Amino acid sequence: MNVTIKTPEEQDKMRTAGRLAASVLDMIGERVRAGVSTAELDRICHDYIVNTLDAVPAPLNYRGFPKSICTSINHVVCHGIPGERLLKNGDVLNLDITVIKDGFHGDTSRMFFVGKPQVLAERLARVAYEGMWLGIEELGPGARLGDIGHTIQVHVEKNRFSVVREYCGHGIGRGFHEDPQVLHYGERDTGMELIPGMTITVEPMVNAGKRHVKLLNDGWTVVTKDHSLSAQWEHTVLVTESGYEVLTLGDNDRST
Ligand code: MF3
Ligand code: CO
Ligand code: CO
Repeated sequence: MNVTIKTPEEQDKMRTAGRLAASVLDMIGERVRAGVSTAELDRICHDYIVNTLDAVPAPLNYRGFPKSICTSINHVVCHGIPGERLLKNGDVLNLDITVIKDGFHGDTSRMFFVGKPQVLAERLARVAYEGMWLGIEELGPGARLGDIGHTIQVHVEKNRFSVVREYCGHGIGRGFHEDPQVLHYGERDTGMELIPGMTITVEPMVNAGKRHVKLLNDGWTVVTKDHSLSAQWEHTVLVTESGYEVLTLGDNDRST
C-alpha cells in the first residue's frame, strides 16, 4: 500500500484541481441535449480544459484511452468512449471529468438527463447520489474504508438496486489512481484507517438490475450484464482533522 499524505501546499493544489474539474461539469451541463454527439461534448470539454483552464485532460492517452472525458449512457456503467452516438430524449448519462493542474488531479462525475427521464432513471440517479454522499459523510480521522463501503451498500440495497464491485474509488494526487482502493460495499470497522491529508474519490456505480458487469471489445466500455440502467456520481475528497472537505463541489454547491 502506497498511500500519500498531502502537505498543506499539496492540499491547496488538490483544491485547485478539484475546483477546475467541477467547473467543466458546470460548463457542459447546458450542452447536454438531444441531437448532440458525445464526441462533441468531448471536444468542448477538451478545448475548455486546455484553453480556458490551462490544464490537462487526464483520461486522454491514459493507458490508451482515446478521449478526454468518459461518457457513459444508460446501461453503460463507466468508461464510455465519446463517439458519434447522438443523445436522444430519455437518455441518462454520466460525464466523468478528470483534470491535471500543476501536477495534481481532480476527478468528478455527475448524471445528466436528456429531456424528461423515466421514473426509474431518476430514482436510480438519486439513490446513487445519496449513496455517494452518505459514504462521504463517513469520512474523518479514525473512520475506516469499510465504513464508507458499508454505508453505500446498505443504502443502495435498501432501495433494491445493486452496487458494482469490479470498479471502485481510489486515492488521488500526483497520480490519477493511487492507493488505497475505495470499495463501495463492505463491512463496518474493516479496512484501512483514514488519516488527515489523505485524498480519495468516492464514486459508487449503482445498477437498477443485478450488479454484474461486462467489458466490451473496445477494452474500455463497461456495461451491465443484464442491460439494466446504471448510474454514478463522483467527488474527490480530502480527509481533515475534523472530518472531510469535498474538493470538487460545483459553483451551485459552494458557499464561498
Ligand atoms: N475518471 C475515472 C475514475 O473515476 C477513470 C477514467 S480512466 C479513463 O477513476 F481512462 F477511462 F479515462
Ligand atoms: Co475516479
Ligand atoms: Co472519474
